[in-house]
Amino acid sequence: MNDLVQMDLAHVLHPWHYTGQQTKPLVVSRGEGCRLWDTAGNSYLDAVGGLWCTNIGLGRKEMAEAIAAQAEKLAFSSTFVDMSNDPAAALSARLAHLAPTGLGHVQFTTGGSTAIDSAYRMVCFVQAARGFVDRNQIIAREHAYHGSTHISMSLGNRDGDRAPEFQYETDTIHHISAPDTLRGRATVAGCVAELEAKIEELGAERVAAFFAEPIQASGGIIMPPEGYLKAMWEVCKRHGILFVADEVVTGFGRIGHMFASEARYCVQPDILCCAKGLSSGYQPIGAMLFSDEIWDTLTSEARYYTSGFTYSGHPIACAAALKNIEIIEREGLCARALEVGSVFQEGLATLSHLPLVGDVRGEALIGCVENVQDKSTLALLPDEIDVGKLISDAAQAKGLLVRPLGHLNVMSPALTITEAEIHFTIETLGTAIREVADALTRQGVRIN
Ligand SMILES: Cc1ncc(COP(=O)(O)O)c(C=O)c1O
Repeated sequence: MNDLVQMDLAHVLHPWHYTGQQTKPLVVSRGEGCRLWDTAGNSYLDAVGGLWCTNIGLGRKEMAEAIAAQAEKLAFSSTFVDMSNDPAAALSARLAHLAPTGLGHVQFTTGGSTAIDSAYRMVCFVQAARGFVDRNQIIAREHAYHGSTHISMSLGNRDGDRAPEFQYETDTIHHISAPDTLRGRATVAGCVAELEAKIEELGAERVAAFFAEPIQASGGIIMPPEGYLKAMWEVCKRHGILFVADEVVTGFGRIGHMFASEARYCVQPDILCCAKGLSSGYQPIGAMLFSDEIWDTLTSEARYYTSGFTYSGHPIACAAALKNIEIIEREGLCARALEVGSVFQEGLATLSHLPLVGDVRGEALIGCVENVQDKSTLALLPDEIDVGKLISDAAQAKGLLVRPLGHLNVMSPALTITEAEIHFTIETLGTAIREVADALTRQGVRIN
């Protein structure tokens, strides 16, 4: 074991740290495009895209130059109250221009969770400021992932995420079913009826907002039935409930648009949260975009809106985001995500005949393989087998990183991924799945 692995094992508490038998961390030291190198010099094709975030690909010199130039010119300046800095001001205008209709304002945050927390605070504030002081209840969905702060984790509700030792906000946050067309057999009408029923149960005059990812990503790439998001938005509009779109994953080209809400789903949210692809992971930054109507409410009375962070509008992070957006636009990466995305989706479809593979799904450059014990009933293998991890380990040994998420293997590569790299991904993943299926069969595990 090299020193860095030992240092990490000895000292780092990782996000979602496993406290059982520790596996050696993969210590990554270099990245270029979709390719990573570990400290031992082994190279991997990163089909995960970091963590749904390296949209423009790693190792871009002009990103490094923009970051370095900003660090030299102005490394930090607060944006509290009446201070600002040039990259923050310029990025706010850029985002207002790119955002869905009517989202002309932005609050900068440090990442996705803090954008979601900011949205939670905003919806309660705005409803109260409009005179609806009882509107403080929130509706979100099962299997959602909105981040890891107290409130964003309470808005989420993925299997296995809720440790009994942690506290969650349960008085004001309620969950309805995810639009799961595979196991839940969700239909638009059924989901709408469930939302209406929940609103009635809580009392429409008490519901402040509905939070939704256009595609539930970390919850298992849950692809909503066509028309779902718009129908849910229309229910919200009818009841005066604010619609918060969590585009932390779908923003900045992942499914072929700068933002998916309006361009793909014909929804004009009141609030849109983004992060990840906003800087393609080159700097930690998030943003909460919000509507002109909300701005009007906020500014209808002179007061301090007490929300924000030391690093809101951090000049280096904003400079990185500006350069990142410039690259996405200049290289036409949204259109590219659709083009190579169709090659990726076709490739995924070819895996569906393999043993273990119960479903493949996704859109453009987000996708997953769902591994099951029984292809016809979709019954799962026992959790202890940890099939997603077995497959990702087998793939990693062949130079491919795919993310294990329970029994799934999920992918969201950089939008710059080449067709050759997509073919490598599909072939290698297929080989890894076959290998794991053979090994399980040899161990006496029944796979149908
Ligand atoms: C949809 C969604 N929202 C919010 C978050 C939280 O973002 P962050 O980890 O930057 O706080 C994530 C992270 O994966 C996410 O997938």
